[in-house]
Amino acid sequence: MKIIMLGAPGAGKGTQAKMIAEKYSIPHVSTGDIFRANIKNGTDLGKEAKSYMDKGELVPDELTVRILLDRVAQEDCKNGYVLDGFPRTIPQAEVLQSELNKQGTDVDFAINVDVPDENIIKRMSGRRACVTCGATYHIEHVPPKTEGICDKCGSELILRDDDKEETVKNRLSVYHDQTQPLIDFYSAKGVLKNVDGTVDMMDVFNAITNILG
Ligand code: AP5
Ligand code: MG
Ligand code: ZN
Repeated sequence: MKIIMLGAPGAGKGTQAKMIAEKYSIPHVSTGDIFRANIKNGTDLGKEAKSYMDKGELVPDELTVRILLDRVAQEDCKNGYVLDGFPRTIPQAEVLQSELNKQGTDVDFAINVDVPDENIIKRMSGRRACVTCGATYHIEHVPPKTEGICDKCGSELILRDDDKEETVKNRLSVYHDQTQPLIDFYSAKGVLKNVDGTVDMMDVFNAITNILG
């Protein structure tokens, strides 16, 4: 099963993608997580990506596509995957499409997690992330057992550099310009499913599993 998560920054794509990955035993592939892991390890890729991410801009398509195609070519992806944060532009979607066509397969579902801009800014300021294992928390909705410490691996939790209010506003505007058109792209392909992302995260997940079966 090949699933794409669509939605604004902070809509809950990562939260849902992790649960989907676990339930359906497929890898969770997040381009944002790949970039952050590279930043943490000080790689050249990380340095380049960081210069865009810190401003809330998109990393250039060419670089992003290369990273993604590399990742989904790995053995664990052969029975499918859930893509979180990719594609984010029409050119990215077109490259993915032509790659899948070459392999004689296709995207099965594009799940759009719908959350209005007003809710987003509030959510982001409360998010805390573990850079070691990728787990995500929220100081009100999903607090860790010990403040500032990851339940899963014991590392320190951080407020992402790009979760500052000004940067979030820019990410939202980039989203509306460049990523929202993908809703029509996947709707035209007949694979788009909308879910209400403003409700409790378990209710969002139930809506998604009803769709995926
Ligand atoms: P990326 O890491 O993909 O960030 P994003 O799309 O901005 O999305 P987020 O990860 O911020 O939000 P999310 O939807 O995953 O929400 P989450 O589940 O964490 O990308 C970061 C940057 O990398 C980009 O800006 C760009 O520069 C670059 N990049 C990445 N991919 C790229 C690409 N393909 N092309 C070019 N550049 C790329 O939830 C948010 C918070 O809300 C959490 O605290 C969570 O606990 C809480 N929450 C979740 N669900 C609920 C709920 N139902 N109710 C209440 N709270 C909830
Ligand atoms: Mg995410
Ligand atoms: Zn952790």
